[in-house]
This record gives sequence, C-alpha cells and structure tokens, in this order.
Amino acid sequence: MSTLAVVEKSQDQLKQIGREDAALTDHFRPKLKVNYDLTRALVSFQANKTVAGYRWFKFKEGFSSTLVNYVFDRLRISSGKVIDPFTGSGATLFSASGRGLDALGIELLPVGCEIIRARKAALQHPDRVISTLRNWVGQKPWQTSNGRQVPFQHLRITEGAFPQKTERRLKSYVGALSDVRDTASASVLRLALLSILEEISYTRKDGQYLRWDDRSGRRQGTKLFNKGLIRDFDIAILDKLVHILDDLDSPPDLFGNASRLKLSGQVEVACGSCLEELPKLPTNSFSVLMTSPPYCNRYDYTRTYALELALLGIHEAGIRQLRQQMLSCTVENREKGGLADLVGVQNFERGKQIFNEQVLLSAICHHLDYLRDEHQLNNSGIARMVRNYFWEMTLVILECARVLQPGAPFIMVNDNVRYAGIPIPVDLILSRIAECAGFEVETIWVLPKGKGNSSQQMGEHGREELRKCVYVWRAPTRTQAKQQVPLLGHQR
Ligand SMILES: C[S@@+](CC[C@H](N)C(=O)[O-])C[C@H]1O[C@@H](n2cnc3c(N)ncnc32)[C@H](O)[C@@H]1O
Repeated sequence: MSTLAVVEKSQDQLKQIGREDAALTDHFRPKLKVNYDLTRALVSFQANKTVAGYRWFKFKEGFSSTLVNYVFDRLRISSGKVIDPFTGSGATLFSASGRGLDALGIELLPVGCEIIRARKAALQHPDRVISTLRNWVGQKPWQTSNGRQVPFQHLRITEGAFPQKTERRLKSYVGALSDVRDTASASVLRLALLSILEEISYTRKDGQYLRWDDRSGRRQGTKLFNKGLIRDFDIAILDKLVHILDDLDSPPDLFGNASRLKLSGQVEVACGSCLEELPKLPTNSFSVLMTSPPYCNRYDYTRTYALELALLGIHEAGIRQLRQQMLSCTVENREKGGLADLVGVQNFERGKQIFNEQVLLSAICHHLDYLRDEHQLNNSGIARMVRNYFWEMTLVILECARVLQPGAPFIMVNDNVRYAGIPIPVDLILSRIAECAGFEVETIWVLPKGKGNSSQQMGEHGREELRKCVYVWRAPTRTQAKQQVPLLGHQR
C-alpha cells in the first residue's frame, strides 16, 4: 500500500476512534467527577512512607492506607467482608482489618504474599517477634565470621547486583536466619532483608526493567546512570529492624492506652492468579471490593522485583511462568489458554459477548493491529497486550460480580494510558464492561492532576493529560446481572 493510502486509512480509523470515544464520554459524563480530596500521594504508596507497618516494605505500586480509610469513610463502610483480587502488599487488607473488617486478598507475586504473611505474623505474635528482633539488633548474628553462609541464587538479570562485601553479608544473614526456629520471627527477619535489597544493590526499579548503576560494571545503552548512595548492608538492615521494632513496640500514649499495631479483623491471602482463585470462592460472599490491578502500561513486576524473587528462590522458569500468569500488561504476555476451564463456560461465553460489544475498544484494537502490520508501532506486542488486558479484566469483573453481594461497592484505582499517540480511556472502557456485566457505575472520581500534563509535555506534544481515577461501581442484583444494557455509539 502506498504511504498516502496508509495515512488515509489510519486517519479514517482515528476518526472512528474519536466518534466512539465521544459517545462513551457522553455516556459517562455525569459520573466523571473531579475529586479534590484525592492527591497523587494518596493514590500511590507515597502517603504510606511514614505510616507504621506500611513503611516496612516500599511497594511502589501500592496505594495508601489513608486512601482506603477515606473511601471506607466516604462510602460509610463499617462492616462486612472485604476482598482485593490484586492485593499487592495488602494495603486494602490491613486497612480493612484495622477497622475491624475481615479481608481476603489474592496476589500472584510471591513478594506481595511474603510481605502480607510477615506483617500478619508480626501482628499476631508481637512479643516473640520483638524479642527476636531486639536480639538481632544487639547481637548482629550475620557479622559472626564463623557463621554459615547461604548462597544467593541469582537470576540472569540479577547477577552482579551487589557489591562483593554486601553479598557476603547477605549470605551470612540468610545463614543466620536459617537457625531461627520461631516462624513468625523468621518471616519478619526475611521481610527486613527483602525490603533493603534495592537500596544495597547497584539497581533501581524502573517500571519495565531494572536499571543498573555504572559502578556495577554493567552498561545499559549509552546513557550513564548513577543511582546515588548505595547503602552499606549493616546500616540498612539495622535501620530496617529498628523501624519494625519501633512500630511493633511503640510506648503507650499520654492516656496510657497501648498504641500497638494490631489486627482487628482477620487477614487472609490466597497466593495465585485471581483468574484461578476467584472462581473457587462462593457466590455472594463479599460485601466490599477495593483493588488496583496492574495498569495497562507495560510495567513488568517480574523484572522490577527480580532481586526479591531471586531471594525467595524463584528461578528462570518460575519467572517466565509468573510473567505469563500476570494480568496481561507487558508486551511479552501471550494469550492465556484454558480460561474457559477456569471461569466456567457460561461466564466465559458471557465475557466474550460483553468484550465483543465494546465498540471503542474494538476500534482501538483494530487500529493498533493495523499500525503493527504496517510496522508503525514501536513494539509489535502492544496490540496484543491492550486486547488481552481488557479481555482478562472482563473475566475478572464477571467473577467479581458473582462473588460480591448485590449492591456491594467495587472500588478500583487505575490509570489511563496512551499508545501510538492514542489515549486509551481505561476508566470508561472498564466501566462500560462493568455496566454490561450488570454493575451500576456510581461515580468515577478523577484526580485533579492526571499524568503527562506537565507544561513541558503539553508544549512539546500538545498532549492531553491522561486521567488517573478511582472508580466506584455497585455490584449487580440478580436481575441486573441478567439484563441486557442499551447499546451505545454506532451500535444503536
Ligand atoms: C497495582 S498492584 C496492587 C497494589 C496494592 N493495591 C497495594 O496497595 O499494595 C497490582 C498487583 O496485581 C498483581 N497481579 C498481577 N496479575 C495478577 C493476577 N493474575 N492475579 C493476582 N494478582 C495479580 C501484581 O503482582 C501486583 O502486585
């Protein structure tokens, strides 16, 4: 095809995307509300940085406990059972528990599961954990020269990540850890180690991959990178152990009330994919869902958490398997097989029907396929990633509709994205899928400041900002679940 013909065809497709986008935006306009209470800090991990318990592991992709409390207060949620199908480090679970609600999380990444288990163990057995941690801070058993060393089983992409002295200390720490008999204490000591790996290494988590400091001797591309201070092992681990001790053992307040962190409601975590775990849960068994799935932004959790996964004993094959099981959000994700077996043929067929009705999504995917075939996409896996992201989310949403009680709030934090210059309104597309699955879209809170709208970007690319939102949906009643929703846009 001539260049002119390619441009014309592409422009026709963009016009159609524009029309469908306008129809969907019109449909949800009354629900889109800028919420000035919501800041970027609140909707990210930032606000957790100084909060007891949450600061033990900096899970950068998390949201804050303050956000969970804000949402629960605003929606007047004070009882019931909570679920988070993409639970990460468990902000939803521990915040709900702090309010006396029982909570179940599902998480695929072993790092998230480990953080939750360790925190739960610490809160269930604080006295044992405090005593062991005090001992370790006093005795520093990893410094004993005759202590056992346990090798760090590197992955290809973590080889050489630590200065030699640091790696020796790390091996001694794991050696000393293998002598700790109390499982709660061992779990917390391992969490302390997990949480300092990045700061004692030559690497920095950078979304799609690990970035390497030049001092490591590994060069990535042509740009020089210096991450700043690489912390000494002893200083970093002692700081961390003292932080945890401070949080577990804080003195009573001025009225003499114990201010210890505690679990009020039960916290449980199912380690696995929510596409496998949700179907195992009974129908109508939860009264609140608050979550944040991976964004459709190519972020690769298995690469950025490679150091932590290696420490947890996950090897190359395990990493590949994890990446493929993750909700499709990287260009390497392939189609997932066997989904009909997991969610059942009925939900699978219903999902297919709902997915196929998404006219804006279909126009976007069609265009991305076309750009890929014309070699106009900077990565040929983008089209597949976008399609599968929404397809898998359709199945997740249908399963959530099943496990939630009628009218239960479903709260989701997510970002819109842009590929090949096309903004993809993830908020509107997912909300429309939810509507087709019988949910009522109560509101879509838009953060006052989105992404990609710095004055520099606006000037350079004339780009619109990408919305960052918190969606509030209500789970369907039995009749809503079966009803057909009116068609939109060119479907009419
Ligand atoms: C944005 S993070 C959630 C952060 C969480 N709200 C917190 O505050 O810690 C998304 C999480 O979804 C997990 N995830 C990705 N695919 C999954 C799947 N198929 N099943 C369950 N969890 C998955 C990722 O490992 C990641 O921890």
